[in-house]
Amino acid sequence: MTINMEQQKRYGHFDDQHREYVITDPQTPWPWINYLGNEDFFSLISNTAGGYSFYKDAKFRRITRYRYNNVPMDNGGRYFYLKDGDTVWNPGWKPCKTPLDFYECRHGMGYTRITGRKNQVEASVLFFVPLKKWGEVQKVTLKNLSQEPKQLKLFSFEEWCLWNAATDMENFQRNFSTGEVEIEGSTIYHKTEYRERRNHYAFYHVNTEIQGYDTDRETFVGLYNEFADPQAVIEGRPRNSHAHGWSPVASHYIEVTLQPGEQKDFVFLLGYIENAQDEKFEAPQVINKKKAHALIASLDTTEKVDQAFAELSAYWDDLLSIYKVKTGNDKLDRMVNIWNQYQCMVTFNFSRSASFFESGVGRGMGFRDSNQDLVGFVHQIPPRARQRIIDIASTQFPDGGCYHQYQPLTKRGNNDIGGGFNDDPCWLIFGTVAYIKETGDFSILDEMVPFDNQPGTEVTLFEHLKVSMDHVLNNLGPHKLPLIGRADWNDCLNLNCFSMDPNESFQTTENKSEGSKAESLMIAGLFVVTGKDYVALCKQIGKDDEARRMQQAVDAMTEAVKKDGWDGEWYLRAYDFFGGKIGSKECDEAKIFIESQGWCTMAEIGAEEGMVAKSLDATKKYLECEHGIVLNNPAFSKFVYEYGEISSYPEGYKENAGIFCHNNPWVIIGECLAGRGNDAWSHYAKILPSYVEEKYQTLHKVEPYVNCQMVAGKDAARPGEGKNSWLTGTAAWMWYTVSEFILGIKPDYEGLRIDPCLPETAKDYTVSRKFREADYEITVHPNGHQKGVRQIVLDGQPIEGSVVPYAPGKHTVDVTM
Ligand code: BGC
Ligand code: NOJ
Repeated sequence: MTINMEQQKRYGHFDDQHREYVITDPQTPWPWINYLGNEDFFSLISNTAGGYSFYKDAKFRRITRYRYNNVPMDNGGRYFYLKDGDTVWNPGWKPCKTPLDFYECRHGMGYTRITGRKNQVEASVLFFVPLKKWGEVQKVTLKNLSQEPKQLKLFSFEEWCLWNAATDMENFQRNFSTGEVEIEGSTIYHKTEYRERRNHYAFYHVNTEIQGYDTDRETFVGLYNEFADPQAVIEGRPRNSHAHGWSPVASHYIEVTLQPGEQKDFVFLLGYIENAQDEKFEAPQVINKKKAHALIASLDTTEKVDQAFAELSAYWDDLLSIYKVKTGNDKLDRMVNIWNQYQCMVTFNFSRSASFFESGVGRGMGFRDSNQDLVGFVHQIPPRARQRIIDIASTQFPDGGCYHQYQPLTKRGNNDIGGGFNDDPCWLIFGTVAYIKETGDFSILDEMVPFDNQPGTEVTLFEHLKVSMDHVLNNLGPHKLPLIGRADWNDCLNLNCFSMDPNESFQTTENKSEGSKAESLMIAGLFVVTGKDYVALCKQIGKDDEARRMQQAVDAMTEAVKKDGWDGEWYLRAYDFFGGKIGSKECDEAKIFIESQGWCTMAEIGAEEGMVAKSLDATKKYLECEHGIVLNNPAFSKFVYEYGEISSYPEGYKENAGIFCHNNPWVIIGECLAGRGNDAWSHYAKILPSYVEEKYQTLHKVEPYVNCQMVAGKDAARPGEGKNSWLTGTAAWMWYTVSEFILGIKPDYEGLRIDPCLPETAKDYTVSRKFREADYEITVHPNGHQKGVRQIVLDGQPIEGSVVPYAPGKHTVDVTM
């Protein structure tokens, strides 16, 4: 095989000790981003400081503006310009792109540090959102590395968004007349629409006296200039402009003298403030700045900022101490201990709303997405997971159906997309069970939760779980398999859509499911898996009749799959509107799909009859390729009107035979349950970012430290090319798979169930697991076995079975396979 040098090129490396990814070349194959913020105030930041900030909701409370899919790509962000004589440069290389003598970007846990050097000046900027603060800190450290004094001119730059990120991009006849700012000392306030119904404003502050400023974009940049050569910076002269309408921005101008070896810090703060209705103004037209002053005062010195930064690191130390593995394989350990958990936090916070592939205006929180994200997050901060479950359940309808999405700011279901995705209800069980197993907190089941957020409709959360199960049972098709509705997990298998109008979105067009026979084997498997969980839960809380009722339903579903869902070598995918088979050897294209192989093997349907093993083998044979497991095979080569969006994608991309990483773990878990550790591991390593990082930085294109939603499949033009990084269910599923099924430490009602499934080459390893009020130090000796625990010794005493019973305190566990 010839080695393609371009594919071998490296742009960075992991620094495990600091929990960072270090980017050493600013011209990454795509912007490599990070997320700042923990609960309310968030920012996206690329390796060249591009990106934007928002409060809670990337659509309704956008603080700074971003232009998507721009030329050049990733244009706009928080930029610092340094003018040193005639040279103008940025620490992050962009936007001026002045060649730097040194460049480095370190993406860490909730922070990014970008350092540039030019002509013996070093500028290092630390970006982070302090815990519990509504603002982004940018600590700029300038250092004179030369033997001569340096006279520098420093310009900051942020561009305000007029709050609603959607209308900000379109309603210019209004937008160009509404912009308003105030300037007070070194603080620039953005108060567009504050005069009317908005009770919030933003500000950009620096903790030093400034020698000038600009707040009008065209004055600062110049109408015929670009971010790369703003007029004011090039001339080294701010205009002290005051924006009225058009496009308000915020730029500080600071003159800095540095003696040889001298270093100075400047703390910039981008903040967000809300005021009560009757406290909005301090004088007519003048915003009440009391809270802004307080926020500024809490972060106005290097010491305070360093303290806040230390708190953020301690917070991550804590979070990452809950599950820690030591296998001796750095590539595995760094993903499990650092990056996979970090990505789970990010997906929990953002669902699928804001990334460099999700504009933040299209989607809020997904019902199914957030329930799955929760499973990767619940061990980190259980109370937040608890609240999320209640929020999600509150968007359910009385019949168990669900709004497919809701807005994080209002927590209300999104009417544009509506409901009808018939897999959605099952995910509430998946999320809730994970929460209870982690915490032992059964009281969540008694919480009173409304339907569709309507006061007066409250029933217990348990009742929501019950109607969820019943929703599947009340919507069975001719083969007693679940009707698919608008779509199941695969949003693009639109069997009741029949759209020929290119102006219609497949996702929101009328759901013509009246009289439809379209059934889903994916939902069937999902129902069996979550149904078994539901049965076990009912038994835990003494609802034996309900357990019995649902066990019967699970058994019936299992039989229905065996009878009408088996194609001979693998599970069918679905039946279409007319009752025709999808994902069958009888089909011309897309004879086999991954989703039903994943879910029906996880459900172990027909294991005794050999179906599970056959399905897993068929998956390897027909779906696996060098970069992972593709979604379907062969890819659709033409549009199939009856199937909808799936066949709209060119071969090898997205839902048409792309490697949709989210579903690969389903097969891996199927492999683990079947005890096939070698196969499980080989599937896992193919999509594990650290393994991909080592081989394919250029080809893969997107960030090498996190999973992306889709890697182009074998039928694509560039197999192995990644897209849609960060916000994907892959994060939670990779975590669930490795922590519970491969390394095999699984929270259960009574304690930790230990049941690893490993490649036969696995060496001894240790997992430190905090679980409720206990600390377990678990050492596993695989002895060349892929599966099967022979003996567990708890605190020196052998125990029966594979569940280490929960007891507060410190424990050591020794596991021999
Ligand atoms: C994508 C899906 C996505 C859906 C909903 C489709 O175009 O292919 O992955 O879930 O849109 O936004
Ligand atoms: C992305 C969506 O967020 C998710 O809900 C869906 O299951 C997958 N695409 C597959 O279509």
